[in-house]
Amino acid sequence: MTGRTIVDDITGSRRMRRNRKADWTRRLVQENRLTADDLIWPVFVVPGTNVVDPVAAMPGVNRMSVDKLVEAAKEAADLGIPALATFPNIEMSLRDETGSHCLAADNLINEATRAIKKAVPNIGVITDVALDPFTSHGHDGVLRGDVIVNDETVELVARAAVIQADAGSDIISPSEMMDGRVGAIRRALDEAGHQNVGIMSYATKFASAFYGPYRDAIGTGGLLKGDKKTYYIDPANGTEAMRDAALDVEEGADMLMVKPGLPYLDICWRMKEAFSLPVFAYQVSGEYSQIKAAAMNGWIDGERVMLETLLAFKRAGCDGVLTYFAMDVARHLAKKA
Ligand code: PBG
Repeated sequence: MTGRTIVDDITGSRRMRRNRKADWTRRLVQENRLTADDLIWPVFVVPGTNVVDPVAAMPGVNRMSVDKLVEAAKEAADLGIPALATFPNIEMSLRDETGSHCLAADNLINEATRAIKKAVPNIGVITDVALDPFTSHGHDGVLRGDVIVNDETVELVARAAVIQADAGSDIISPSEMMDGRVGAIRRALDEAGHQNVGIMSYATKFASAFYGPYRDAIGTGGLLKGDKKTYYIDPANGTEAMRDAALDVEEGADMLMVKPGLPYLDICWRMKEAFSLPVFAYQVSGEYSQIKAAAMNGWIDGERVMLETLLAFKRAGCDGVLTYFAMDVARHLAKKA
């Protein structure tokens, strides 16, 4: 067929497919790109040496002892990954009602920070100050009766933040969703002379079912009594999430995080539009495991789905993503370059 067609009449000669016609045009018009610079790698630390212990519900993810973690951190830095986020699996005998072991200068998370910063100074270390790895009940704060008490938890978390910064943490990442925590941590850090230590707030952390495999990884799954609905945000509420994030911005957060990731892309977009701050999504354990499980069954192409989800975060306005795929992606990108 030659000459004008009925479609030319309908579209007035606009054809979207012209820009999609070849690999080179598609590359030319590509709006978002994923690079190693976008990746934060969450890692699980266990006591001991020479331990690499697979997390059953997260194929490809291991709990590592500090020595192994240091090796992995070197590899991550060589692949261009800017930062790690560390999560400790604390011995049960050290967990108590108030999570008091979070204040030990030589606890596992601080030991990991010191070792990584010493061996691999050019990788960023982001540490969470929530109490859940340290409490005997798996909640993120101090449990009194059946209440997670806000202000007492904030006090502890702010002290833990200073101790984490003393150990060399570059960014404190409070995930326990207590009111006032960002401001309290900022004040405590400044008073201790840690003006250069940043705060990446889990500004909008939702009471989600997607955290299941993580709780297995750090050994809190069996412990948790009840749920976290009195402090995490209801998945139904976008406006409330924005208000919570606005408070964190006022209190001095340097970066904002949305968690979980893919089911909350609308929140990522709204936060990026509303605040002039870097926004990160946390592609959480359940999101990772879903993709892995389907890929292992041959139901989806795991690598392509992984890359598509991460690109979707970029399109939604995120400056980067915390993802258990970080090493896989970085290796894939290095191969392509
Ligand atoms: C708790 C915390 C959670 C995650 C990291 N820190 C959620 C929870 O257990 O309630 C989830 C991470 C993931 O699922 O990958 N402070």
